[in-house]
Amino acid sequence: MTETTYPPSADFKAKAHIDADTYASMYKASVDDPDAFWADHAKRIDWIKPFTKVKDVNFKFGEVSIKWFEDGTLNVAANCVDRHLATRADQTAIIWEPDDPKDDALHITYRDLHEQVGRMANVLKSLGIKRGDRVVIYLPMIPEAAYAMLACARIGAIHSIVFAGFSPDALGARVNGCDAKLVITADTAPRGGRKTKLKDNVNQALLHDTDDVKCLVVRRTGDQVAWRRDLDFWWHEEAEKVSADCPPEEMNAEDPLFILYTSGSTGQPKGVVHSSGGYLVFAAMTQQYTFDYHDGDIFWCTADVGWVTGHSYIIYGPLANGATTLMFEGVPTYPDAGRFWAVCEKHRVNQFYTAPTALRALMGQGNSFVEGYDLSSLKLLGTVGEPINPEAWNWYNDVVGQGRCPIVDTWWQTETGGHLITPLPGATATKPGSATLPFFGVQPVVLETESGKEITETEASGVLAIKDSWPGQMRTVWGDHDRFQATYFQQYKGYYFSGDGCRRDADGYYWITGRVDDVINVSGHRMGTAEVESALVAHAKVAEAAVVGYPHDIKGQGIYAYVTLMTGEDPTEELRKELSDWVRHEIGPIAKPDLIQWAPGLPKTRSGKIMRRILRKIAENEFDALGDTSTLADPSVVDQLIENRMNKG
Ligand code: WTA
Repeated sequence: MTETTYPPSADFKAKAHIDADTYASMYKASVDDPDAFWADHAKRIDWIKPFTKVKDVNFKFGEVSIKWFEDGTLNVAANCVDRHLATRADQTAIIWEPDDPKDDALHITYRDLHEQVGRMANVLKSLGIKRGDRVVIYLPMIPEAAYAMLACARIGAIHSIVFAGFSPDALGARVNGCDAKLVITADTAPRGGRKTKLKDNVNQALLHDTDDVKCLVVRRTGDQVAWRRDLDFWWHEEAEKVSADCPPEEMNAEDPLFILYTSGSTGQPKGVVHSSGGYLVFAAMTQQYTFDYHDGDIFWCTADVGWVTGHSYIIYGPLANGATTLMFEGVPTYPDAGRFWAVCEKHRVNQFYTAPTALRALMGQGNSFVEGYDLSSLKLLGTVGEPINPEAWNWYNDVVGQGRCPIVDTWWQTETGGHLITPLPGATATKPGSATLPFFGVQPVVLETESGKEITETEASGVLAIKDSWPGQMRTVWGDHDRFQATYFQQYKGYYFSGDGCRRDADGYYWITGRVDDVINVSGHRMGTAEVESALVAHAKVAEAAVVGYPHDIKGQGIYAYVTLMTGEDPTEELRKELSDWVRHEIGPIAKPDLIQWAPGLPKTRSGKIMRRILRKIAENEFDALGDTSTLADPSVVDQLIENRMNKG
């Protein structure tokens, strides 16, 4: 079989930061002597007190501890803002493109950003927020989200962003989970021409809260909101009462910068904790090298700041590098499926980074939505979040990139802080569907799924784990270090276990095959099947539920729910809709099941354990691959389930 590979063009290579030889020698240096390598590259950020110790890491289950640059001190906001004032105060730091293309875009300079962050930091202080306190940010994609993140960093408060699409319940759980003192939100949020009532959601989330959590509200639309006297404050009013001058707090490299909740295979989402020093070094370095970012380029990552991609590649990475970063409030299909390309043309975007799910959706709308736009400014395209199928890759390459732009398929996770496996565009020949090779300092290994043995042959397939640490690695689960160890270091001893399966080909390229645990990837968003199940069983008419993923043309994976009703409940179409809406209400629109199948019985072992493997196969329409069903307590339920498979095709 011949594979098409796409080597970097001579032109791109000539201008790139890293070519193939540099990649090889730097990669070798990074694993031969990580201390020397990272001591050198950590100089890309400004330290208040330089570190003397680079790395102190133990991956041994029971003793897991990860520290980088541990005696150094810095301030992340000063690195992302203040230090650029001398050379680029008048350069645009953030281009803000609003939901409605008829409204004006904003160009926020580094000088403006400095002023706004300082003001927001002083407002936080005036509301009683101190170093180490937690602040939940529940904002749409507006500049104030950037100000809020950097203001927290400036005073040493720890932010936890909750995606604005999450429900009041999900928000409330995250506020309580980290004992936040303050929530920063907006009145209402326009998106795709519709509005989300964010402040009302906050009110609901905090309704039963006894700790008097305060709320700082950004006026985005001017819509009416219910006000909690003594606890709610308008950002625009408070901002007038304070000065813009707020000296940055001197933080330790290992002080947490933020918490970000993410889904796992069991239980409720966990709070991933990222550090200040190591995280910033890694986010900045990957942003520069993976996207081959050069001074003056316009960089656009279409993610939401509610996900890790937004943290690392809209805010911290680009701003630490003094880049111009674009922040987009809207959606790819509003007012029509040409919006991404209209924005690329309007702002002369140079690097564009999005998710395969968006590409598949846009590809389905036809090329006419792309072809009318001048995309000559584009130099590079990127993808993240899920495996990209060759059709989408080719469309991206041919229609959007017009064959001129390298594509970087970046594999990483909330836990990793930044890219771990990715092409470097001036160095790596790409293959559609492969995330290719490790970034500097990253040592991927393929383990045999059952035995956990490291496969030393180049060609391998199994689970993906990482040997040794990198500076951007998460440090712990907020408030639960045992869970951190159990999730990532217990099953495969001595490694960080990613939860993904993968294949390594004869050239040493990595191909991510998807999650091997009970996490599914819906439109590039991570969802724990256990979360959806617990939402379903919280409904009075549901006795039992099992949720699995199934292949979905646009979303990558869809959510397939098997539901057993309480005795006497009728399995009607109305109830199906009611349950779907219920999950949407409990968690948020992204968790809404695509298909619900009534399951009078679920396949269980004699000890009562649900055999998800079988449910997955039925949902995937692979009835011939069910495997051994003889150990089931009642094998006949399988035939029933197959008989009633939704949309059997
Ligand atoms: C998946 C997003 C294939 C993977 C940054 C991972 C990918 C999970 C890729 C993390 C890719 C991410 N190719 N799969 N390029 N990038 N994934 O935490 O399953 O939201 O474990 O972080 O997304 O999702 P998360």
